[in-house]
Amino acid sequence: MAEFHEISPNASAGAKTLNWIDNRFPLSALFKAHMSEYYAPKNFNVWYVFGVLSLLVLVIQIVTGIFLVMHYKPDAALAFGSVEYIMRDVPWGWMIRYMHSTGASAFFAVVYLHMFRGLMYGSYRKPRELVWLFGCGIFLALMAEAFMGYLLPWGQMSYWGAQVIVNLFSAIPFIGPDLALLIRGDFVVGDATLNRFFSFHVIAVPLVLLGLVVAHIIALHEVGSNNPDGVEIKATKDAKGLPLDGIPFHPYYSVHDIFAVSVFLFVFTAIVFFAPEMGGYFLEYNNFIPADPFQTPLHIAPVWYFTPFYSLLRAVTTELMYVLMACVVLAAVVALLKGRMPALFKAIIGGGAVVVLAMMLSIDAKFWGVVAMGGGVVILFFLPWLDNSPVKSIRYRPSWHKYFYAVFVVDFFILGYLGTLPPTPLFSRIAQVGTLFYFGFFLLMPWWSRIGTFKPVPGRVTYTAH
Ligand code: HEM
Repeated sequence: MAEFHEISPNASAGAKTLNWIDNRFPLSALFKAHMSEYYAPKNFNVWYVFGVLSLLVLVIQIVTGIFLVMHYKPDAALAFGSVEYIMRDVPWGWMIRYMHSTGASAFFAVVYLHMFRGLMYGSYRKPRELVWLFGCGIFLALMAEAFMGYLLPWGQMSYWGAQVIVNLFSAIPFIGPDLALLIRGDFVVGDATLNRFFSFHVIAVPLVLLGLVVAHIIALHEVGSNNPDGVEIKATKDAKGLPLDGIPFHPYYSVHDIFAVSVFLFVFTAIVFFAPEMGGYFLEYNNFIPADPFQTPLHIAPVWYFTPFYSLLRAVTTELMYVLMACVVLAAVVALLKGRMPALFKAIIGGGAVVVLAMMLSIDAKFWGVVAMGGGVVILFFLPWLDNSPVKSIRYRPSWHKYFYAVFVVDFFILGYLGTLPPTPLFSRIAQVGTLFYFGFFLLMPWWSRIGTFKPVPGRVTYTAH
C-alpha cells in the first residue's frame, strides 16, 4: 500500500480534496503517467490527431446511443415507427439520431485515417505489435457494431442487408446453415434477429470495444508513441532519464488535440445539420422505407465503410478461382525451388498446396468470396510480421514504396466505390484486378518491402520549430 500523505492544514480546499483522493485512488499518479509526464515525440504531425478523434467519436456514439435507447423499440412491429417518432416528436430527437448515424460514418473515417497513419510510419512494428493487434480487434468490433446497428431502424436496407450478410455464413461448409440459423434466431431475418442484434449493439459489443480501447492505450503508453520519422525517442535520454526528443503530452499535445477536436466538430455539425444523408452514402434512401420481407430492393449495397470489403466478396467468381489456384501453384513452386529448407518442410508445403487446391475445386466460389471478405480484414492482424523493411517510416523508404502505397489507397477507394454500384461485367473485372492487388500488396510484402534503396535514418527525430 502506498504511504499515507499528510497535507498542510493551510492548503486550499482543492489541494486538500485532491490529497484525500490521492490517498485512496492514484488520480494524480494516473494523470502524470498518461498526460503530464507521458513523453511523446516532439515531431508529431496532423496524422496524430485521429486517435483522439476516434476517442471523441466513441464518446459521441455512446452518449447519443443512450438517449436513442430511451425511445427506440426493439420490436419488428414497432422499430421503424419508433425511429420516425424519435425524428418527428421527441424533442431534439432528430439531432440525436443524426449525430448517431453521422457518428457511425465519422468513426470509420477517422479510424481509416488513423490506421493509414500506422501503415505509413510503420507504427505496427516492434515494439508496438500489441498496440496494432488491439487496434485490429477494435476495427473488427467496430464493423460488428455498425453492422448490427444498421438493422435496428428496420428499413428495407437494414432488413435486406442483414439478410444478404447473414446468408453468407451459410456458405461455410458443414456448419454454415446452422450457424446462419443461430445468428438469425429464425429461418429468415425477423423479430428474434432484431432482438439479439439490439442486445449486442447496445451492450455486448460496446463493452468489448471499450475494453479493447483501454488495452490499446495502455499498450501504447507502455512502449511509447512512434512518430513520422520512425525513430525511437527512448534511445536518446537526458541525465534525468527523460527522452531528449520527447515533450509532455499535456499541455503540448492536449492543446493541439483541442484544436483538432474543434475543427472536427465544425465539420461534423455541418454534416449533421446540412447533409445527414450525405447523398445516400451515410443513410441510404431505401432505408426510409419500412422493411418488407416480400419485396427485395433492386440494388442492395452496404454503407460506404463496408463497400471495399463487399467488393472483395463479389469479386470472387468461379473464373477468379482459376486465377487464385494458379497463384497457389506458383507460390508453392517458388517456395519449393527458392526456399532452403528440410525435406519435411517441403513435403508439408507441397501437401498443403494440394489440399488447398482440392478445397478450392470442391467448395463453391461463394464460400471463397466470404473468405476473401473476412481475409481482407484478418490480414491486417499479420502486418507486423509481413513487413520486412529495414526502416519503419515511409520517409526513409525507397521513393517507389510511396507510389506503391498511393496505388494501394487508390485501389481501396476504387473497391469502395465499385462496392456501392450494381455489378456489371466491366466493373466486376476491375474489382477482380483490385482484389488481386489488395491481397498481393499484403501477401507479397515480406518480399517487396525489402527491395530498393533505403535512405539513412537519422539518430534523432527531425524537427523544425514552428
Ligand atoms: C475506437 C478506435 C480507436 C481509438 C479510440 C484509438 C485511440 C488511439 C489513441 C488515442 C492513440 C494515441 C494517439 C495517436 O497516436 O493518434 C492511438 C495510437 C495508435 N493506434 Fe489507435 N485507436 C483506435 C483504433 C485503432 C485501429 C483500428 C488501429 C489499427 C488497426 C489502431 C492502431 C494504432 C497504432 C499503431 C497507434 C500508435 C501510433 C504511433 O505511435 O505512431 N488504432 N490510438
